[in-house]
Amino acid sequence: MVELPVLSLTETQTIPGERRGARQVYIETYGCQMNVNDSEIVLGLLHANGYGIAKHPEEADVILINTCAVREHAEQRVFERLNHLKPYKRHKPELVVGILGCMAERLRSRLLGQKRLVELVVGPDEYRKLPQLLEQAFAGEQGIAVRLSRVETYDDIEPLRTEGISAWVSIMRGCDKFCTFCIVPFTRGRERSRPLQSIVTEVQRLWQHGFKEVTLLGQNVNSYLDPITGADFADLLAACAEAVPQMRIRYLTSHPRDMSDKLIDTMAAYPHLCKYIHLPVQSGSDRILALMNRGYTVEQYLERVERIRAVMPDCALSTDIIAGFCTETEEDHQATLELLRTVRYDGAYMFKYSPREGTKAWKWGDDVPEEVKIRRLNEIIALQQQISYEINREREIGRLHEVLVEGPSKRNPEQWQGRTDTNKVVIFPQTPEIGVGSLIHVRIQQATSATLFGEVVAVPELATSLQVA
Ligand code: 5AD
Ligand code: SF4
Repeated sequence: MVELPVLSLTETQTIPGERRGARQVYIETYGCQMNVNDSEIVLGLLHANGYGIAKHPEEADVILINTCAVREHAEQRVFERLNHLKPYKRHKPELVVGILGCMAERLRSRLLGQKRLVELVVGPDEYRKLPQLLEQAFAGEQGIAVRLSRVETYDDIEPLRTEGISAWVSIMRGCDKFCTFCIVPFTRGRERSRPLQSIVTEVQRLWQHGFKEVTLLGQNVNSYLDPITGADFADLLAACAEAVPQMRIRYLTSHPRDMSDKLIDTMAAYPHLCKYIHLPVQSGSDRILALMNRGYTVEQYLERVERIRAVMPDCALSTDIIAGFCTETEEDHQATLELLRTVRYDGAYMFKYSPREGTKAWKWGDDVPEEVKIRRLNEIIALQQQISYEINREREIGRLHEVLVEGPSKRNPEQWQGRTDTNKVVIFPQTPEIGVGSLIHVRIQQATSATLFGEVVAVPELATSLQVA
């Protein structure tokens, strides 16, 4: 999944869980979208147990950091953040600081007492214990809960969402793929899915509450399996599409091995199933793919891409690439560049290989020198940026897109920003009729590798779809 910058509640967001007089909890989230939704689950749980939600760490009685362990860099950022939190503890000695998520699961008791700050360590399957562990922490006891579960999906807990247009919904947890570089199967445990009906009901409720877009989340959504009926991910997508016919529906992340024809056909059948697929390839070398235990060859991967494009010619594709996996040669690296040229992804998330203790690849060492990794990564990034730029210039300029309005642009608040159904960011001048959550039409006039710029146009024949906004 895609690593996000640190997220916390901002001044401008309304917080449904504000509660004066109660103990206040502040949460910061690192890592993937699953973590964002997990933080919402934690807030939902704590709010139901009487906690208020703090916007800033200085207002908090509890500071929780929801962490990522997928690369070493993600962990370093958390340790640095702990240093910055020290003054809050000095100022308020009764403050409780806890580490949640994948780093908690990986490092366990090694985190307790870190920086003389951390009193609570709770892994991804143990959040139900938080209210009890917090009570103990207020009484001066350190607490740790890191057991993984084969069944926990937090299906009955209502996430406390702080943003009102686009919602994350976890449909499954864990991963059984065991890619040799990846820590996730060890930190998030075995794969398990939520019942289809409860997901559909949650999506319907989100629509009724004014959300315009939902992203179904899982480490590998294509392995979704309804524990009650045996329905698969395509069945789930179709059921959601039928239940909320005017809501945008997205999903993350797909494994190429399980990207079935049925799923592709289902996506094509409903216009509001967004035409965007994140399909991590990791490498363009068959030898490296086999070492990574990815379960496909380049040829098989390209066959899936061809099938997607035959059925949905306008579907946007993005991917993940790892540069410098153990034993990667210059030839393997060139094969990755070649794959990027062949597929021509709309975008990519590109990483240097980071060895993770406990994975199979950890034992094979980290033999690609750092400077070689950096050079290869830079070549991959430069090529992909060039391709994204060319695609946007050649295919996007002049095109009309339906855009879901997200709000003022971060760079220039006088301009507004939204997203196409192919998941591209669009900047346009604001007009009085446009509000957050409107579906508008924008004609693209300019493009960079990462952003489209355009003007709002009225499209009379699409007015009915605008009314639902
Ligand atoms: N080193 C570098 N990148 C990694 N990823 C997962 N594990 C590692 C690792 N050890 C990347 C993969 C995955 C994405 C979420 O993170 O590309 O698809
Ligand atoms: Fe990690 Fe592979 Fe599972 Fe993705 S599919 S979470 S890379 S083990």
